[in-house]
Amino acid sequence: MTHALVLQGVEKRFGATQVVCGVDLAIEAGERHALIGPNGAGKSTLFQLIAGALAPSAGRIALNGRDITGRAPYAISRLGLARSFQTTSVFPRLNACDNLRCAALSAEPRGARWRHLLLGSRAVDERARSVLEAVGLAACGDTLAGALSYAQQRALDLGMALASGAHTLLLDEPTAGMSRDEAREALALIRVATAGKTVVMVEHDMDAVFGLADRISVLVGGRIIATGTPDAIRANSAVRAAYLGPETLR
Ligand SMILES: Nc1ncnc2c1ncn2[C@@H]1O[C@H](COP(=O)(O)OP(=O)(O)OP(=O)(O)O)[C@@H](O)[C@H]1O
Ligand SMILES: [Mg+2]
Repeated sequence: MTHALVLQGVEKRFGATQVVCGVDLAIEAGERHALIGPNGAGKSTLFQLIAGALAPSAGRIALNGRDITGRAPYAISRLGLARSFQTTSVFPRLNACDNLRCAALSAEPRGARWRHLLLGSRAVDERARSVLEAVGLAACGDTLAGALSYAQQRALDLGMALASGAHTLLLDEPTAGMSRDEAREALALIRVATAGKTVVMVEHDMDAVFGLADRISVLVGGRIIATGTPDAIRANSAVRAAYLGPETLR
């Protein structure tokens, strides 16, 4: 079986500082995988390496069996990988629907993209509308993204990843900054809206992680110290010592 994503010996150094140290990880197609670990563990850096925003200092990364190591972000995006950022990154002065149109357009071949931009495209419009509905923003299509609530902007952010047509999604702290109720709603949305996709999610909310993930990897000091099912991770003494602590374990 081809994995959606495979990392082999991935490292990242910034000058003398090694931030990611020999990470091996194999994510199955359709899997929901959570990446957890303390602040500064290297989680966002690992996402940047996978998405091509940073080039690894060593190691290899493959998406659906194709080597994407060191390739440009737009090229990796074309191969079906999308990411949402730790901080919301929508276009505030475009309305919600146009934000999704931009994301949908980005997945079109270059020639078609310009044609669709100039002449409009029913396919792009339909994709934007259907994603708008999928992320619960059907009533807000004409609202400027900057005027949406914070939780709605995060939903739009997720929608932009979906509208690109990606099969593999990297979600960096999708519930960051939300109240408990907002976070619960956001996770329900992620569960439904990403059905059938491969999802790798960085998340600090342990209820979210243990409720949503098929498997969990724990990154500490740039190294993966454990990968396994939620039950296995809960029971892992090294993980308890390094990150979870006894109070998280119910
Ligand atoms: N461009 C950079 N140059 C130097 N050091 C960096 C750079 N980017 C990140 N780092 C360092 O790498 C380490 C890992 O950062 P990263 O943002 O990946 O952590 P994280 O696990 O996502 O943390 P958080 O949970 O707080 O988001 C930190 O010590 C950070 O200061
Ligand atoms: Mg981070």
